[in-house]
Amino acid sequence: MNAAVRAVVRSAVFYNKKVVGVFRGYDGLIAGDFIELNSRSVKNILNVGGTFLKSARSKEFMTLEGREKAYNQLKAQEIDALVVIGGNGSFTGAHIFHEEFGIPVIGIPGTIDNDLYGTDYTIGYDTASNTVTHCVDKIRDTAQSHNRLFIVEVMGRDSGFIALNAALATGAIEVILPEENKTFQELFVELERGASNKKTSNIIIAAEGNKLGNAFDIAAKVREQFPQLDVKVTILGHLQRGGSPSNFDRVIASKLGVAAIEGLLNGKTDVMAGIVNDKLAYTFLQQAIFNKATIDYELLRISKILAT
Ligand code: F6P
Repeated sequence: MNAAVRAVVRSAVFYNKKVVGVFRGYDGLIAGDFIELNSRSVKNILNVGGTFLKSARSKEFMTLEGREKAYNQLKAQEIDALVVIGGNGSFTGAHIFHEEFGIPVIGIPGTIDNDLYGTDYTIGYDTASNTVTHCVDKIRDTAQSHNRLFIVEVMGRDSGFIALNAALATGAIEVILPEENKTFQELFVELERGASNKKTSNIIIAAEGNKLGNAFDIAAKVREQFPQLDVKVTILGHLQRGGSPSNFDRVIASKLGVAAIEGLLNGKTDVMAGIVNDKLAYTFLQQAIFNKATIDYELLRISKILAT
């Protein structure tokens, strides 16, 4: 997100516009927690994860009263447009705010989950996928040396983009996604197949929002069915959301930050700037919110072929 903030600030300055940073997301908007930014304010942040502006989920912004306060803060500071970096929740707030008060808003997709319609990539997804891949590679060393089965739980409350990508990249025997209705029976069949193919180490990647349960629940069921297996659990958690961003994430954050400012200057509003088929694309926030990004089922098919 820092890389996107930097791109927004520097492109706005390039076009002779004033930029104000809002601390703590919508809570900061309501409180008027603002800071004037210039090109130097965003030096040396391109390579740093997170956002120096901080972020928060705001309950108050969900109320009309809260949004009214936010609007008054913007008016008082003569701020006439808003760039919002975030996911579904942030865009829902931005869309309603725009509808109620007419302030031009533009969204930049920032979530490691990659689950936004209207862009092939969200900022953070590539870095998180790489982090998971590196972590699973390390886990594989123990799995391999001790003939163990690891169930690795990755983030993805509602979507399995990270899980699927990482499963393919790490050679996992199975991936369990929120989008699927996999049964334990199907999982056991895969594990049987792995055993009959003389697999000695196994990794199962489970997205946290999968329907079979959390990694410990899954491990308990697998142990029941295969008492001979040494089953371990690793939950990667928030380490997936931090760290220096990948080259890819820095590049798309830079592109989208500039696209947000240029979009606003060209009169675009109530849209999200995204990348579709390698090209810049603006999608109405309402569409980005209500449509679901679908995982690549071709990747799932490939990962099944290669897990044999
Ligand atoms: O950003 C989305 C997400 O990473 C989900 O996959 C995950 O469930 C959630 O955030 C965790 O959020 P929190 O930091 O509030 O626990």
